Amino acid sequence: MIRPADDPPPSAPGGVRTRAGDALTTVDLAAKAALITALRRDRLAGRCDVDDPTELVAVTRPGRPERPELVAPRALAKRSVHTPDGRVALIHAVAHIEANAVNLALDAVHRFGDLPDAYYDDWLQVAAEEARHFALLRDRLVDLGAAYGDLPAHDGLWAAAVRTADDPLRRMALVPRVLEARGLDVTPDMIERLRSVGDDATVAVLEVILRDEVGHVAIGTRWFRWLCDARGLDPATTFRRLLTEEGVRLVAPFNDEARRAAGFEPGEYAPT
Ligand SMILES: [Fe+2]
Ligand SMILES: [Fe+2]
Repeated sequence: MIRPADDPPPSAPGGVRTRAGDALTTVDLAAKAALITALRRDRLAGRCDVDDPTELVAVTRPGRPERPELVAPRALAKRSVHTPDGRVALIHAVAHIEANAVNLALDAVHRFGDLPDAYYDDWLQVAAEEARHFALLRDRLVDLGAAYGDLPAHDGLWAAAVRTADDPLRRMALVPRVLEARGLDVTPDMIERLRSVGDDATVAVLEVILRDEVGHVAIGTRWFRWLCDARGLDPATTFRRLLTEEGVRLVAPFNDEARRAAGFEPGEYAPT
């Protein structure tokens, strides 16, 4: 096909899922973010279709930097906001969550086929927003004289990706609707604690994150319900069944307002 002069070719070969896989395996986080930006730009310009990759990236092999060192959650330092070191530890922990969230969103695009185009565009948008969250927190660490990778971190988020790699319905239930929804519950308290010590710059970042995360959980809910519908399953009972199968217990307090805005029915997550 001959393209007009003002219609440049795609910036990389392959369709949406193949290119999301390339970004997923990219180790350097800035390079990964640049691939996501280019992919979204090409997609929005109509220069990149949803494809079926010839080979899937092994879910156990996402691209991530050598540091931080991954350790068991209980090996991590306490995070009091009253000391500079404590705040660095807190921001580092959230930055690590965001770095994982970039890969989780890319994996949602790359791994699962036979879904509507809107599914891939939703998760590409999430990938771009997670990359922005990570960059904002990385910059806060630099402001505080630290860097992402300075401290150890834990690997719980990616373990959820591995456990849900064979089923998008399970992934939508257990990643956006459990892990990202948990972020909605705990972030307001983190914001208050940082505000109480006058760290307004980090507060501003976390407010951006909280707002965007409502959208991510809503996207998870949208596609969880779509997949339930396609399989003739009831969403509420299916969500509970998956929680039980995975041994997940949701614990209060819940951010009811944010959860409602993200599409949860109260009875779906409150203990019965
Ligand atoms: Fe995020
Ligand atoms: Fe998110």
